[in-house]
Amino acid sequence: MKLLAMAGALRSGSLNKQLLKLAVKLLEGAGAEIDLVDFRALAIPIYDGDVETGTGLPHGALELAARVTAADGLVIASPEYNVSMPALLKNAIDWLSRAKPMPLRGKNALLLSASPGLVGGNRALWALRPSLEVLGVHVYPDMFSLASAHQAFRPDGELVDEALAKFLRRIVDGFVRVTRAHQTMEKK
Ligand code: FNR
Repeated sequence: MKLLAMAGALRSGSLNKQLLKLAVKLLEGAGAEIDLVDFRALAIPIYDGDVETGTGLPHGALELAARVTAADGLVIASPEYNVSMPALLKNAIDWLSRAKPMPLRGKNALLLSASPGLVGGNRALWALRPSLEVLGVHVYPDMFSLASAHQAFRPDGELVDEALAKFLRRIVDGFVRVTRAHQTMEKK
């Protein structure tokens, strides 16, 4: 099973990148192969209908579309910006939605968020969810939001709170099982 992992933040010290790294470790432990997206390297410009009409999807968006196509599912760790998803992710989704065939349809997705705030960026995920679902993505019902994330990690990258760590493992395992079941159904 191949999963495309992406964080919705560019900065190197990103708490969401830290959370994604931990989730990736758990997913690999559950047998998934991970393709990690580097949005800075992809350098996808802001959606522009004139660019689309004139020269088609930009190189970075085409590369992302190909990598989504090659994956069985997505794992996204998103910051919450002003009670919504960051423009980085929305822009990537907008370009992907214009690719033909549209690569997101039928993919499974696991949503994670981290924030120093008390709701852990959860509202970003509730913004992200409908944009993915309208494009035919099966978003896993359980989402994981890490509150007070600036204090939540141990130096080795694991979570300080053992109950939260257990919850994350349960969500990751459930997502892997559902994604595998979808793969099996599609092969029949
Ligand atoms: C934020 N932050 C924030 N946090 C939150 O819990 N709710 C919010 O609505 C916002 N809004 C917001 C807007 C903008 C433009 C920025 C830059 C930040 C704080 C945010 O959660 C915090 O900076 C995280 O650490 C960002 O995620 P990364 O970069 O650590 O992954």
